[in-house]
Amino acid sequence: MVKICCIGAGYVGGPTMAVIALKCPDIEVVVVDIAEPRIAAWNSDQLPIYEPGLDDVVKQCRGKNLFFSTDVEKHVAEADIVFVSVNTPTKTQGLGAGKAADLTYWESAARTIADVSKSDKIVVEKSTVPVKTAEAIEKILTHNSKGIKFQILSNPEFLAEGTAIEDLFQPDRVLIGGRETPEGQKAIQSLKSVYAHWVPEDRILTTNLWSAELSKLAANAFLAQRISSVNAMSALCEATGADVAEVSYAIGKDSRIGPKFLNASVGFGGSCFQKDILNLVYICECNGLPEVAEYWKQVIKINDHQKSRFVNRVVSSMFNTVSQKKIAILGFAFKKDTGDTRETPAIDVCKGLLGDKAILSIYDPQVTEDQIQRDLIMKKFDWDHPLHLQPKSPKSSVKQVSIAWDAYEATKGAHGICILTEWEEFKTIDYKKIYDSMQKPAFVFDGRNVVNAEALREIGFIVYSIGKPLDAWLKDMPAIA
Ligand code: UDX
Ligand code: ADP
Repeated sequence: MVKICCIGAGYVGGPTMAVIALKCPDIEVVVVDIAEPRIAAWNSDQLPIYEPGLDDVVKQCRGKNLFFSTDVEKHVAEADIVFVSVNTPTKTQGLGAGKAADLTYWESAARTIADVSKSDKIVVEKSTVPVKTAEAIEKILTHNSKGIKFQILSNPEFLAEGTAIEDLFQPDRVLIGGRETPEGQKAIQSLKSVYAHWVPEDRILTTNLWSAELSKLAANAFLAQRISSVNAMSALCEATGADVAEVSYAIGKDSRIGPKFLNASVGFGGSCFQKDILNLVYICECNGLPEVAEYWKQVIKINDHQKSRFVNRVVSSMFNTVSQKKIAILGFAFKKDTGDTRETPAIDVCKGLLGDKAILSIYDPQVTEDQIQRDLIMKKFDWDHPLHLQPKSPKSSVKQVSIAWDAYEATKGAHGICILTEWEEFKTIDYKKIYDSMQKPAFVFDGRNVVNAEALREIGFIVYSIGKPLDAWLKDMPAIA
């Protein structure tokens, strides 16, 4: 029986290994993590991450060929293939701070592998890492190897949160990069045979190590660029009276562009886009390509601009002040169907409104009060450090922020509503009931274009939708630059 061990039981490692276990009954899969609470949660009925379909997959295999453990050393030692999916946050200090990836967790995982291995192993990079990390990892492993042979593969993850299980079941492609030596090619084939249990052969692409590593950063940069491009258009639409939905539909009809990933929003979030682009920027700078670095930086700058543009729109619409006004925030996660808040645009929007002394009542169906408080206290970049290294509950909490159990409670007595995540329930809640309980004039600022603006206007709301023709009210209150 082939044995797989995965170091890191997070958003990537957990779902990926669960699906491998489900699809490969002949393989034993153990997911290990140094965070005890995380492993305990994986072994309980309350999994540590919310992902549609995940519960079901875990239930089918856990205890059979899928195990979760904190005994990192034992399971690494026993494995034939070791996946590494530890976190790689952006460095907060020192060389490359704010841009380069912090490889501390990766290096420590690599040293553990070198220390405890007694047999040859394939080591698979699963977390997104800068190009040429494999080379560094190879050095750590071979310099500490005691004669044991390691083959490094890069197998970047393309799953998106909220659709992770679907993406894993039916991936557009699986990418495996390895050394161009006979041993490297043999390792590629071993990993390929794992995925071949359920992925059609023509979707498994094999490349050299650097292509695989760079493809991941490039894929995320290209996706994020689409959103920044359409968000830049949304600002122009508001200024001219065009409708961004019509514009993106029209351009998406060109099959060379395509309709997906063209929804204007309050901004993109998530653990990958910003971090990976910053990484790309850093790599470009280190390779003497400042113009290319500058080009990719713009994708992030437009994203930041979109968030502050939204805050300005809220404040200017409400007579240029939100001081002491209750504002309901519907949705805090970086997108629907996940409880993940890493780099969510909601953080910057909330901080912006708090900066103007607003009183916030926040409701998200999947994000806990502790998490929201932690996010609003934290400095940028702290977010991607593992939960067990963060304070259990925030030492102080943000006073002007309260957390509500549902949308009705959050909006009661509020002057305005900001929709920041596109949860399905925000399309179907009773806006008449909400309107009746709010201060007047009552505002809705739809950062995800999920509500039927016309229907809400009929109820009496003043509605702002991203990139759509403005209400007369909003036109008379031009956004402060
Ligand atoms: C992304 C990539 O899609 C995935 O392939 C990679 O492995 C990891 O990074 P993820 O961060 O989970 O996945 O979410 P994604 O669906 O890509 O959305 C990212 C952000 O963009 C979200 O905040 C989302 O709301 C926003 N978005 C997405 C838009 O604003 N408009 C769109 O049209 C699409
Ligand atoms: P991702 O979204 O990339 O999966 P997460 O932060 O969700 O990132 O998960 C990474 C996991 O890796 C965390 O649970 C963390 O505790 C774990 N981890 C980090 N370093 C190590 C290590 N050296 N050994 C074992 N687990 C580790």
